[in-house]
Amino acid sequence: MSTVLVTGGTGYIGSHTCVELLNNGYDIIIVDNFCNSSPDVAGRIEQITGKKVKLYKCDLCYDVEKLDEIFKENKIDAVMHFAGLKSVSESIKFPILYYENNVFGTVNLCKAMEKHNVKKIIFSSSATVYGTSSFAPYDETMPIGDVSNPYGRTKYIVEKLFEDLCNSDALWNVVILRYFNPIGAHESGLIGESPKGIPNNLMPYISLVAAGKLDTLTIFGKDYDTPDGTCIRDYIHVIDIAKGHVCALSGITKLSGVNAYNLGTSKGTSVLELINAFQKMTSRKVRCTFGERRKGDIPVVYANADKAYKELGFKAEYGIEKMCIDAWRWQCNS
Ligand code: NAD
Ligand code: WQD
Repeated sequence: MSTVLVTGGTGYIGSHTCVELLNNGYDIIIVDNFCNSSPDVAGRIEQITGKKVKLYKCDLCYDVEKLDEIFKENKIDAVMHFAGLKSVSESIKFPILYYENNVFGTVNLCKAMEKHNVKKIIFSSSATVYGTSSFAPYDETMPIGDVSNPYGRTKYIVEKLFEDLCNSDALWNVVILRYFNPIGAHESGLIGESPKGIPNNLMPYISLVAAGKLDTLTIFGKDYDTPDGTCIRDYIHVIDIAKGHVCALSGITKLSGVNAYNLGTSKGTSVLELINAFQKMTSRKVRCTFGERRKGDIPVVYANADKAYKELGFKAEYGIEKMCIDAWRWQCNS
């Protein structure tokens, strides 16, 4: 048994990962400032798993003394670092906020870890770091960093920070997980994604239109060089992402230094295919219209997920249909 400190553990991906960790015999300690989540989520994690969750309200940027206390009070074996801001459009408007929260927050976390001799960390990165210099399927040997927005650059900078840390001290052990497009929710309908305001991402938007809470989905572009003219992405069930973290945690001790893995399905789905699958699986109509291309969108993004399978034994299990059913169940409960 070991104890994992989960930053951002009441958020969308963090909460699902907490469930998987508890179900696999780990103890967890959640640290979150609730800027994009609610403390109630911890109770829901307990309800799903029947296990206790230790929860601290703590901001990685501003509550450094509290963070130090948390490391003092608990015997922590490893950290999973989800805490961060994640909106591409918001990051373009407020770059300082993003650099501060995502980079400075991570620096504070690393300082506390170093001080308390906890040197194993799994970090939430993004397929966005591949940027525009390579083409799908993206694999981990491809260059990173040619990113077009501040959010993506914060992920790139933190990846490099971990590389430097591992070069400076061989006791650091870092797994970087580059998520493709996580969607769906826990089968219980108790936890899922709760975007504030009007969502930027496709699946939450589809769900809100289907629920009658938003009027029409605008499909950004219909003339891409893809079979149906709409963009292709690698959607992956959030439970698969969570399971990928458990595989990474059990694999981390066999690894050394910094290692990056894609978490994707290796399968591309177009915007129209996702909408059609959602309509079929939920029997709900999603009213849509075609609009202009969205600036910065890459036409085709999907993973080569072989490395995570070969080295961590992780393979995504769930298909688009289940992703849609689970996303809709969560929407109906929200
Ligand atoms: P989320 O917003 O639901 O969860 C992030 C959590 O971190 C929230 O609970 C928030 O309150 C907390 N948080 C933010 N800043 C904090 C701070 N300074 N101190 C303490 N807590 C803080 O987001 P998510 O979708 O669960 O994403 C988790 C991580 O995965 C993020 O780092 C995100 O960039 C990354 N990621 C997400 C996606 C995606 O599509 N959801 C894709 C790739 C990578
Ligand atoms: C998917 C497709 C849109 C909304 C983003 C971040 C990435 C990662 C995941 C954090 C695209 C189309 C969307 C809409 C649409 N997040 N779309 N109408 O852009 O692949 O990735 O989230 O790390 O970093 O960039 O995801 O869900 O926004 O878009 O037509 O209202 O849906 O054009 O083709 P994206 P998305």
